Amino acid sequence: MKIKMEIKYHFKPNTVYCGDNLRVLKYFPDECVDLIYIDPPFFSGRNYDLVFGDKYAIRAFQDTFEGKSETYLSFMEDRIRELHRVLKPTGSFYLHCDWHASAHLRILCDDKIFDPKNYRNEIIWRIGWLSGYKTKKIGWIRNHDTIHYYVKSKDFTFNKEYIPYKDDYVRRDGKKPTGKGLPIEDTWNCSRGDILNSISIMSFSKEKLGYPTQKPEKLLERIIKASSNEGDIILDAFCGCGTTLVVAKRLKRKWIGIDVSPIGCTVMADRIGYQLKDIQGMKYSLEQAKNLDWMDFQKWTIKAIDGIPLTKKGADKGIDGWQSNNKFNESVPIEVKQHTIGRPDVQKFNTIIEREKKKGGFMIAFKISKPAIIEIKRLKRETKRDIIFINFDELMDKGILMRKGATKPDNVKMLF
Ligand SMILES: C[S@@+](CC[C@H](N)C(=O)[O-])C[C@H]1O[C@@H](n2cnc3c(N)ncnc32)[C@H](O)[C@@H]1O
Repeated sequence: MKIKMEIKYHFKPNTVYCGDNLRVLKYFPDECVDLIYIDPPFFSGRNYDLVFGDKYAIRAFQDTFEGKSETYLSFMEDRIRELHRVLKPTGSFYLHCDWHASAHLRILCDDKIFDPKNYRNEIIWRIGWLSGYKTKKIGWIRNHDTIHYYVKSKDFTFNKEYIPYKDDYVRRDGKKPTGKGLPIEDTWNCSRGDILNSISIMSFSKEKLGYPTQKPEKLLERIIKASSNEGDIILDAFCGCGTTLVVAKRLKRKWIGIDVSPIGCTVMADRIGYQLKDIQGMKYSLEQAKNLDWMDFQKWTIKAIDGIPLTKKGADKGIDGWQSNNKFNESVPIEVKQHTIGRPDVQKFNTIIEREKKKGGFMIAFKISKPAIIEIKRLKRETKRDIIFINFDELMDKGILMRKGATKPDNVKMLF
């Protein structure tokens, strides 16, 4: 059995969240986003269709669905309910799927979550020009995805979009047209002038990142322009490699991306110009953390024991952070050291604990000297103040942290 700390997520626009979207969304307030686009894993029974390919996403799929459609639908119901809750009354919801789950998801949303009269369109997105073995199939060649488009009320944002007229376009009466173009219908990439091919069929697309279900930026551009305005908040809760975020940012919208896969989040962060440390809930290894600069590494270590880092340097002399989920049953100071902890470091920290009138504190470093260990024992014996040393390597082991009193069993959530 493995145990993990419950991660707390904080709602903040322009953030990438790494984690199960159900868990992340629980921390979001009601009616806080203007537009939601999701492209969830399809219930196709083929893992490579569903996930990025890293162990988190594959496990998420295998654990969650176990190949049963009821399990898949209950997974989706929980999440779409949360998405409906966080959507503003003027907001729109686009659910991208294909023939595997399209009918099931439509009935789920109509019957249980959205008011059926708020179903605006069934958008058919033609994937594009196909060649090779796919066209040799007996029967009709499958060539579209479905995007279910819902709003939350009758007062929804919608900016009508047009396909510009071709130069040679004339009206039936032979005259040149005067309007903005042909209004876009609910069948996309199906008519002359409406070019919106899937990048999966374009072998040389510059956009391609090697992710099998990556969607074209143009598709998201159409959705975002139509159903939001500048400054609005766009949420993609199954964000993959971050297509929605890149487009939202370019169109001057605020954005929120969630994905369970750390690899997906890493690609996403890179695309948006963020670093790993900017991703909320990102689980990185000690090796990755060691590549951070010292201040960020210090914050990472403090968060790893569920502490709160102090942001202003020198604000609280000699203290790098505070931690309250511990055996002391009070908030105690944390100090993180870049070098080996020696006897003088322990004595200095002891003075701080005394000054703060605390029962103890945590010192974190790569190493501690023998005289420093002896000093910790002496202080405990003579003053009852308890200084707990944690090695960086122990930060990833919640069992050790619990034994040392740096966290309590009731703060640890059983996940598996
Ligand atoms: C079809 S892909 C999305 C592709 C995306 N539209 C793009 O353009 O890159 C589905 C994504 O959902 C993610 N996912 C699956 N289950 C999840 C969950 N419970 N919470 C968050 N993300 C999840 C997978 O890791 C995968 O990246």
